[in-house]
Amino acid sequence: MADLTIALAKGRLQNPAIELFRRAGTIVPDEALESRRLLVEDESGLYSFILVKPGDVPVYVEYGVADAGVCGRDVLMESNADVHEPLDLGFGGCQLVVAGKPESARLGYDPLVTARVATKYPRVTADFFQRRGVPVELIVISGSVELAPLLGLSDHIVDLVETGRTLRENGLVVIDRIAECTARLIVNRASYHLKRARIAELMKALKSAIPYGDHKLQAGSEERGA
Ligand code: PRP
Repeated sequence: MADLTIALAKGRLQNPAIELFRRAGTIVPDEALESRRLLVEDESGLYSFILVKPGDVPVYVEYGVADAGVCGRDVLMESNADVHEPLDLGFGGCQLVVAGKPESARLGYDPLVTARVATKYPRVTADFFQRRGVPVELIVISGSVELAPLLGLSDHIVDLVETGRTLRENGLVVIDRIAECTARLIVNRASYHLKRARIAELMKALKSAIPYGDHKLQAGSEERGA
């Protein structure tokens, strides 16, 4: 049994995360990555990796099924999981934004009218509109969110923007920026103490693998804030 189990988010962060671990000296054989196996070991046998949906990474880590995980800050903000977030891994940079048609951007929000917002991030969205005093009706969908304003399902969306291409090609514009998001290392609270030496070793190896200046130790990592 490997010393540490690490949950990786499938999708856009998976390859850069595996590449970062590779630069940190943790090599997962290509044939394991190319297989349909969801639990793979590195060559040293020190690490097991589980490949899960992004939103499930904080769940596996919070419940200790995985000692650590890599997922986007957007996912962490939405999950509100009780985990350590000791390291900004620097890759996967994107923004969580409110977007809509240009006419919605011109009109702005009306505190007397309920905004219909389609999103994969209901918690973050509710919090954002609540802070602005704008009543919100959440329409939770799980992908291709940009379709919602085009089809009249919603006035706005809250979604990730990386290159801006999806918004542009669907005639939508950014109305508000909610948060800058990068990939984060998260660690189970019990593992952080019980496997302190192994976690410290992992963090040191990852930090040395991150291009200079990209990583940040999270201030007050005891209390993960959004
Ligand atoms: C994400 C996000 C946007 C898109 C933004 O979707 O939800 O749709 O990427 O990227 P861009 O600014 O570079 O165009 P993803 O590809 O994860 O698929 P999804 O729509 O099914 O969530």
